[in-house]
Amino acid sequence: MDLYAVFGNPISQSKSPFIHTLFARQTQQELSYTAKEPADDGFVEALANFWQQGGKGCNVTAPFKEQAFKAAQQHTERALLAGAVNTLKLTDDGLILGDNTDGAGLVADLIANFGELKDLRVLLLGAGGAARGVIRPLLDEQVSELVIVNRTVAKAEALAERFSEFGKISSSSFEDLSGQFDIVINSTSAGLKGQLPPLKAELIQANTCCYDMTYSADVTAFNAWASEQGAAKVVDGLGMLVGQAAESFAVWRGIRPGSRQVLRELRRNLS
Ligand code: ATR
Repeated sequence: MDLYAVFGNPISQSKSPFIHTLFARQTQQELSYTAKEPADDGFVEALANFWQQGGKGCNVTAPFKEQAFKAAQQHTERALLAGAVNTLKLTDDGLILGDNTDGAGLVADLIANFGELKDLRVLLLGAGGAARGVIRPLLDEQVSELVIVNRTVAKAEALAERFSEFGKISSSSFEDLSGQFDIVINSTSAGLKGQLPPLKAELIQANTCCYDMTYSADVTAFNAWASEQGAAKVVDGLGMLVGQAAESFAVWRGIRPGSRQVLRELRRNLS
């Protein structure tokens, strides 16, 4: 049986084995997908063991995405731009290909929830690793403008500069943020610490749709705030998780599973 796995630490909460097992059933593929938790300094060795045991591909999550990037012998363009890898695949030539499916997962879920992104003005909160991975896929949707806002404004400026060749992109501090946005995406880790980015209430208009790239059984802090300000719709990142998994599955198996039913089952099991 073809072996797949997810590497992360901690990994016990990972939904990936559940998701990929359902994808395999849905597409009638025979494969095994397990979770692996190397020590913080044990990723390279654990990965080598996995290939030796006949592993065909894996997902990689925190804190190993940059190490996975280094471990790959070839990279897709989206992985190079993200500077991080969440998907490794053993190619037919026996080389290790590094890919990043996070941005594709986000875009698929944004479209599923909010419709086409073309000509929409989009605000991305945060300029860390999670933000970097989704910028190119968002620009590829031909948004009218992508604005990156970050507490440390120099990081937002650097990202806007780096990606300027792919579309209309600019940066801002939270204080200087102005204008209206069709979609506001939270990629900051503020919520994980029970905090909110310093956002002004005027940011949210009656037609503003909000997306939090994190998820939890309860509504996330950012989405709760956005709803209070009257946002048109708020969605959390569970669909992005399923979307990036579907994209990884397609990279490995050449067949794209459907996300909807898996997402429903995950949501039901979340609480
Ligand atoms: P990740 O890989 O999850 O993006 P990261 O690279 O550490 O993690 O980036 C975390 C992001 O969340 C950064 O944009 C960070 O802002 P700074 O660059 O100014 O540190 C942002 N962030 C974290 N806590 C925040 C808070 N309380 N308010 C606003 N932004 C916050």
